[in-house]
Amino acid sequence: MKTIHLKNGEILTIREALVEDAQAIIEFIKAIGDESDNLTFSGSEFITTIAEEEEILKDHADKENQIFVIAFIDGEIVGQLNARASHKPRLKHACEFGISTRKDHWSKGIATEVLTYLIEWAQSNSVIRKINLRANVSNKKAIALYERMGFEHEGLHKRDFYLHGEFQDAVSMGLLVD
Ligand SMILES: CC(C)(COP(=O)(O)OP(=O)(O)OC[C@H]1O[C@@H](n2cnc3c(N)ncnc32)[C@H](O)[C@@H]1OP(=O)(O)O)[C@@H](O)C(=O)NCCC(=O)NCCS
Repeated sequence: MKTIHLKNGEILTIREALVEDAQAIIEFIKAIGDESDNLTFSGSEFITTIAEEEEILKDHADKENQIFVIAFIDGEIVGQLNARASHKPRLKHACEFGISTRKDHWSKGIATEVLTYLIEWAQSNSVIRKINLRANVSNKKAIALYERMGFEHEGLHKRDFYLHGEFQDAVSMGLLVD
């Protein structure tokens, strides 16, 4: 658990998600699905049940190389990040994450703090040695944020997204953890 005073005076709390957070996380994910085109789903396409979400949270909590992070302001979830990795010995050191924050809280530094939490977790983790991500090429705000946090561009995935009748490419970025 980490408490941060944002520059605007609000207090941000960041912690790992618990199984009991499942319903609030589903509501958050449905909301953010409709707040941008940069996720892999819209709100109505997110059909995970509470029982399924509980299993996902339990799986993240049980595995050393995975983490599910949520950020709160005034008791409301305003950001989330989940990083997953394979159990296979040849792949278990490399996690890939997704991140989002509520639109009415964008540009307050919340994603920066949540990413800092991920990087600190990875640095103190005995398994993780690489953090990967994939972002739509048009998601300039997210790419600039990852660059600021030290992620390097590693490649291009052509036709990765299909949105509004068009294919879009995605970039791969990564951070070595030593
Ligand atoms: C991309 C996303 C996660 C960024 O979240 P965010 O909480 O707005 O990110 P931050 O506030 O930490 O950083 C972004 C901006 O805040 C600014 N900022 C950083 N720290 C700040 C602070 N303490 N006070 C004020 N502004 C700050 C940054 O300079 C940056 O400015 P910009 O928007 O002009 O580029 C968010 O826009 C989002 O959820 N988008 C939809 C889903 C998505 O695209 N996810 C990523 C998929 S790869």
